[in-house]
Amino acid sequence: MAILVTGGSGYIGSHTCVELLNAGYEVVVVDNLSNSKFGLLKRVRDITANDIKFYKIDILDRDALDKVFSENKIDAVIHFAGLKAVGDSVQDPLRYYKTNVAGTITLCEVMQKHGVKQMVFSSSATVYGVPEKVPITEEFPLEAMSPYGNNKIMIEKILSDLYASDQTWSIVLLRYFNPIGAHSSGQLGEDPSGVPNNLMPYMTKVAAGKLKELKVFGGNYPTYDGTGVRDYIHVVDLALGHLKALEKVGSSAGVNAYNLGTGKGYSVLELIRAFEKASEREIPYMIVERRLGDIGISYADPTKAKKELQWVASRGIEEMCVDAWRWQLNNPDGYEYIEDPKEIKF
Ligand code: NAD
Ligand code: WQD
Repeated sequence: MAILVTGGSGYIGSHTCVELLNAGYEVVVVDNLSNSKFGLLKRVRDITANDIKFYKIDILDRDALDKVFSENKIDAVIHFAGLKAVGDSVQDPLRYYKTNVAGTITLCEVMQKHGVKQMVFSSSATVYGVPEKVPITEEFPLEAMSPYGNNKIMIEKILSDLYASDQTWSIVLLRYFNPIGAHSSGQLGEDPSGVPNNLMPYMTKVAAGKLKELKVFGGNYPTYDGTGVRDYIHVVDLALGHLKALEKVGSSAGVNAYNLGTGKGYSVLELIRAFEKASEREIPYMIVERRLGDIGISYADPTKAKKELQWVASRGIEEMCVDAWRWQLNNPDGYEYIEDPKEIKF
């Protein structure tokens, strides 16, 4: 089976490509490399010793996408491509609506034209806004707090309407909680450009001495130590969730949303302690004001994914920290730059 992976050279996409190739799928990646580097796909190839096909394409480019579907017999699409920085989405909402919402519509139109109607979409726990209680189930109301969150809700609605109009579509909406960690080979990991916004990549840079100290955003949340609580999930567990979702879209039509999380919440201070243990380094930190738009507690009820996808996250917080640290040690400056070809099979 051939799977088209949009955004396949990104953080979650690259880990998913590894698992797809290991499971025997053929993989075709499209990515415009706006937030990733081509060199990463070479590493995917090295880890799996399998061929991978790559097109440097923007998902808004209908003709280019059309060519990909004409040249390859695609069975299903995993759609990661998009912009993901919450703060940027507030600054530049039009760019976010265009890439994320219009990009998904363009992709669906091209899929429809080629009769490909199986899709796994990267949604986010951000669609739940401020949850009334935890754990969060898929039935909770959707209420975004940023243009990025609105993008995800809109796309979910568009995909649901698409299914309602044509019940031969089969769509899985995966609502990721907080993906962290890296591939155990130390070859793949998170490589944000500039100063990281998220906790784990920021902390790894502090441990490596590249940033001075971690600012802990808020010490007075109603949590047991006052710091924010999240459901951190190992990126490889998340990647494996996509393989289970593919089985689902391959076996029955419909549109279904699933939480991908561990079901356990950890505070910022707990994650710092776990990371200090894994890295054997001290993380200097200071508790500062809450970050605007942050919520106190978020963690998943992953029961539906367990029941209907037969998926559970098996890697714990220690493994997430050990793998994230190995990635940082092996790649102090992230991925190397390699001039990218427009199309390649290697
Ligand atoms: P990422 O930025 O590493 O990967 C996204 C990829 O999409 C990048 O390689 C980028 O170059 C590509 N891309 C962006 N715009 C494109 C366009 N117009 N055409 C083609 N390619 C384009 O991000 P990620 O963390 O791997 O996230 C993947 C998906 O998962 C995104 O949709 C994101 O919103 C979603 N998600 C991520 C998280 C998280 O914390 N990382 C949480 C929830 C949901
Ligand atoms: C985790 C915890 C912070 C940085 C974001 C997006 C969300 C989703 C996942 C895409 C919080 C605290 C953080 C720092 C800190 N992405 N923190 N100091 O905010 O839960 O989710 O990524 O869909 O949409 O909003 O993740 O890693 O930024 O924060 O204290 O320097 O760490 O306050 O409690 P978040 P995060």
